[in-house]
Amino acid sequence: MPDAWWQGAVIYQIYPRSFRDSNGDGIGDLPGIAENLDYVASLGVDGVWLSPFFASPMLDFGYDVSDYRAVDPAFGTLEDFDRLLARAHGLGLKVILDMVWCHTSDRHPWFEESRQDRRNGRADWYVWADPKADGTPPNNWLSVFGGPAWGWDARRRQYYLHHFLPEQPKLDLRNSAVIEALLEIGAFWLDRGVDGFRMDAVDFMTHDALLRDNPATGSAAAPLRPYAMQEHRHDIGNSATFEVLGRIRALLDRYPGAISIAEVGSVGSLENAFERAATYVGHEHRRLHAAYLLHVAKGSSEVGAIRAAITQANQSFDQGSIVWSFSNHDIERVASRWGDGSAASAKAFLALLATMRGAVTLYQGEELGLSQAEVPRARLRDPYGRTCWPAFKGRDGSRTPMPWERRAPQAGFSAAADTWLPIPDSHLPLAVDQQEHDPDSVLTGWRALMRLRRDHAALRLGTLHLLDIEPPVLGFERRFQRDRVLCLFNLGDTDGHFTLTERVTPLIAGGCTAPLDTKEIVIPSRGYLIAALSGVATVHEG
Ligand code: BGC
Repeated sequence: MPDAWWQGAVIYQIYPRSFRDSNGDGIGDLPGIAENLDYVASLGVDGVWLSPFFASPMLDFGYDVSDYRAVDPAFGTLEDFDRLLARAHGLGLKVILDMVWCHTSDRHPWFEESRQDRRNGRADWYVWADPKADGTPPNNWLSVFGGPAWGWDARRRQYYLHHFLPEQPKLDLRNSAVIEALLEIGAFWLDRGVDGFRMDAVDFMTHDALLRDNPATGSAAAPLRPYAMQEHRHDIGNSATFEVLGRIRALLDRYPGAISIAEVGSVGSLENAFERAATYVGHEHRRLHAAYLLHVAKGSSEVGAIRAAITQANQSFDQGSIVWSFSNHDIERVASRWGDGSAASAKAFLALLATMRGAVTLYQGEELGLSQAEVPRARLRDPYGRTCWPAFKGRDGSRTPMPWERRAPQAGFSAAADTWLPIPDSHLPLAVDQQEHDPDSVLTGWRALMRLRRDHAALRLGTLHLLDIEPPVLGFERRFQRDRVLCLFNLGDTDGHFTLTERVTPLIAGGCTAPLDTKEIVIPSRGYLIAALSGVATVHEG
């Protein structure tokens, strides 16, 4: 599908709780998003992915759904959603929803019925199993957030499976009735006009039917989470998932142009991460349209690591079916994880993101160069962080509200006296109003990158060819027909050098002050150069 809108698209991830609060309760909402879609459109992106806004007890902040067809009152109403969708479409933005189909909330009526006894109409909609003879759980599986993956239910006198919180019981996706019910929910949203889904936690969709124990990894020292002490051979990633994906794909195929993106976890090693993620996509195999994985973001930003990831992605994924993400609501913000918190490093990683082959997602605030927020222990909301603190502070540091106006109360995010998570002082100078008209800001740099990606088919749709150059410089060429673009990034702390073998026209030069018309060019630490190797080009300031 070379003409599909999502090939080479840039998708802006909105975390609704933290984007903009329209009703002064300290929590972002759908009207807040709708009112600020002009800003989103001004970023030059093709669409938005909205993290869940469905009815939920919010124990995992929306990833625990109690009604898939309702908007949670904290976020607004279904009418608010329809208005948001119409406004987005009016601005030419696609809208992708986050579908959490592996598990529900324990408050979902399906689970409330299922847990009543072993004979009710939904008795087999979740994964129930008897205890072992000694009363312990059926096997050794562990939950991602800590502790066993099994919760006890006194009514059924059985354990139920949960890969995340005990309040997120696992749906049995081998049960066709469950799939039917989920597909009806999917159709409900597609009929409303949404442009596709990000499918949450695809690795977790199905497990070993015999519930066999996971083997130990044999790690010498105990890691932060015992979850990492198991090889996840049986609890996740069962081949039965392909049948589930085929049915999801068949639904999407009824809605031309709708996309499904698999979220692939970071379990296992980087060596085969892309190969494994690629098994979830493919038109001919009736699988999803595209996949994104967080292995790269969770790894190192050294040239060797990025090169290895690009090589694997080139080998495993067709043009268009890979989606790159450097930041999201689950991981530390890239500006402080890979960067040093400076505008220069934020710009360099945005430039790299904007020149990757395939589609990319940009996480709200990444375009401002926001760094990870320090959230004090008393204000932590993420259950994952509350359990693991201080060894792991959880995910709140990447979920704090967007700073819109430096000097307004709550940085213009909300009229409330307090917000659900605090807005760090360090984010105020980076507020949208401070960067909007500054030609050197990270935000202005991002917009220039997006103009470039739009103007050059090579950047949007082209193949990617790694150049054989010495670290700290990472270099590649993007090619589409006669359009060729050279991309060079210095990801290290010392100057890097590059010898040009043909004439180039610089398009964006970040931090490179040396003349760029010489053969030998110097790229300073965190500098980058994007240059046309053919055709007529316009120079934008980075
Ligand atoms: C989401 C997380 C969530 C988990 C459980 C993930 O993939 O991105 O935020 O906690 O799924 O639903």
